[in-house]
Parts: sequence; structure tokens; C-alpha cells
Amino acid sequence: MKAIRLKAPGGTDQLEYIELATPTIAVGEVLIRVKAISVNPIDVKTRAGQGLYGMIKIQNPLIIGWDISGEVVETRSESFTVGDQVFGMINFPGHGKSYAEYVAAPASQLALKPATVSHDEAAAATLTALTVWQALVEKAQVNAGQNVLVHAAAGGVGHLAVQLAKHLGAHVTGTSSGANKEFILSLGADKHIDYHRYDWTNSLNEFDFVLDTIGGDNLDRSVDVVRKGGMVISISTGISNETAEKAKQKGVNAFFMLVQSNGDDMQQVASLLESGALRVHVFKSFPFSEMAAAHHQVESGRTVGKVVVTV
Ligand SMILES: NC(=O)c1ccc[n+]([C@@H]2O[C@H](COP(=O)([O-])OP(=O)(O)OC[C@H]3O[C@@H](n4cnc5c(N)ncnc54)[C@H](OP(=O)(O)O)[C@@H]3O)[C@@H](O)[C@H]2O)c1
Repeated sequence: MKAIRLKAPGGTDQLEYIELATPTIAVGEVLIRVKAISVNPIDVKTRAGQGLYGMIKIQNPLIIGWDISGEVVETRSESFTVGDQVFGMINFPGHGKSYAEYVAAPASQLALKPATVSHDEAAAATLTALTVWQALVEKAQVNAGQNVLVHAAAGGVGHLAVQLAKHLGAHVTGTSSGANKEFILSLGADKHIDYHRYDWTNSLNEFDFVLDTIGGDNLDRSVDVVRKGGMVISISTGISNETAEKAKQKGVNAFFMLVQSNGDDMQQVASLLESGALRVHVFKSFPFSEMAAAHHQVESGRTVGKVVVTV
């Protein structure tokens, strides 16, 4: 099978197309013929030697990528049968080995793809959708009437976070540049903030929950706009000692969260996709031969929705 190996940490020239034996599967796993892969900022960071690189660098060959949708072609699990169309985020955080034509995946990390959703859309609703599910539902327990702020609401995570928060009944504000205002309102957001013009002091103590996808000063300011007793989840960077202390003094629960592979959560995502509560916006789909271009798009930081690679 064709796969893409990361030769060494660095630029996209380190992504090398190679021939590999099709993976064998262990008990509890299925073999998936991959139809689509989604590319996330963590792929780009790991390729560049950050992100998960330190954790998986001893793997040889090192095959990055975690988000897939495809067809089960062999199974050693009772959960799925040959021919099932499945999607999931594989072995995150760990060695996903998903930049390949075939992926061996634990059945416990997968869900059936809704028939109404394409493989491109399904692949795009794995890491990002699990992140928003685990943050908004499992950690923050966002509920009706709450005031929620989603940063980078036009991005892969943010555009799903806006929709999930609305589905949970919250009043949702999303940030982006002015160029993406209409997109964010079209997702159901009640209010848009252009971060280039935002005066943070206008919103002091306004929100019950903030999903911070930016980090640094943005995260620190997020603590200011959350009410006492509220919550800030950071997914981009860890929390500095200063910001952690500020949150503690204010009585705000601020912490970093890392998404985890989880089949039960994937099934929740599948239900949300099937009901239409979550809709994925695929910004651009690249062929497998153009993985480098997909990385360049994600690296630009200007993606609206998700970048996908078809296999
Ligand atoms: N910890 C975890 O488990 C976890 C999980 C998923 C993602 N993440 C991290 O979360 C971050 C976001 O991921 P993503 O997939 O959503 O990224 P993404 O899709 O690449 O985000 C792109 C979007 O960010 C917006 N943006 C850039 N700077 C902004 C700012 N200062 N304020 C508001 N919006 C801004 C851009 O909108 P404009 O063009 O309008 O500026 C663009 O639409 C990444 O760092 C990623 O690694 C962490």
C-alpha cells in the first residue's frame, strides 16, 4: 500500500511517499481501506517537530495523521463487519499511522459513518468533533441559557463548537476576522466579535464558558471575560503560571484539555451528524498526492472549516 512517512521533523519536504505492507490487525481491531483523511494543526506541528513528535519519534516508519473515514475490509472485532463504513480518530495521542491507504484501528475508537455524510465530511468530524464534544459536554457541561464564547469560531474546532453550543441551548458568541463574520453567523452564532477590533474590557465577566483555541494573551484575556465560577478550556497551549494564578484568584476553573480517541464519543458525534445538529464545512479537499499542499493550507492559519485529503 501507499503511505506517507515523516523522514525527519521539518518542512513538507520531509513527507515521503513509500510502499509499505498492508497492516495486520490484532484482536479487537479492524482494517480500514481509507477513503478520506483530515489534516489538523496537530499534524503540521508534529511534522515540524512539535506537537506529538517527541512522543512518537521512535516509531519507524513514522506515519503521522489521526483522522480517517473509510470501509472495513477485514475484522477481528464483533463490533463491525466487512463493508461497514466507519470513521474515527485513531490512537490519539499516539501513533495514528493514518497517512496511508489502509489503517489498522481499534474497533473501540470507531463509529459507523452516517449514510447522509460523505467520507470527506466524516473524516473532518473526528478530532475536531471529539474535541468539542469532550470540552463542551463532558468537561464544561454547557447547558441552556449559558453564555458561551468560542474563539477562532471559523476554524476546524470553532465551527463545530458554535454548532454544538447552540444545540445545547447556549447563547453563543464567536470570534474571527471580519471576513468570516457571515460564516460564523450562518452556523447559528448569536453574536460575532472581530478580534482585530475587540475591546476585551467591554465583556468583563460576561461569559459562563470560553473555549480558547488561540492561547497566550488570548487565553489570559479569556479569564477576564468569564464570570466567577465559570470555566475556560484551553486547547491550543498550556496555561502559564500567571494566568493560572489569575484564574484561581478570580474563582475561574481554567485548564488545558487534550482530546482522546473514544468510540462512545464518536457515536455521539455520528448521531449529531445524522440529525443535522452538526454540519461540517469542508474548505478544500486535496488528492493524496498533494498532502504537502494540504499541510500548507492548514499552516496558513486561515482555513475556514476543515481541510481534507481523499485517498
Ligand atoms: N488540545 C486539543 O485536544 C486540541 C484539539 C484540536 C485542536 N487543538 C488546537 O486548537 C487550535 C485550533 O485548531 P483548529 O483546527 O480549529 O485550527 P484552524 O482550523 O487552523 O483555525 C483556523 C481559523 O483560526 C482563525 N483565527 C486565527 N487567529 C485567530 C484569532 N486571534 N482569533 C480568532 N480566530 C482566529 C482563522 O480565522 P480568521 O482567518 O478570520 O482569523 C481561521 O478560520 C490549534 O492550535 C490546534 O492544534 C487542540
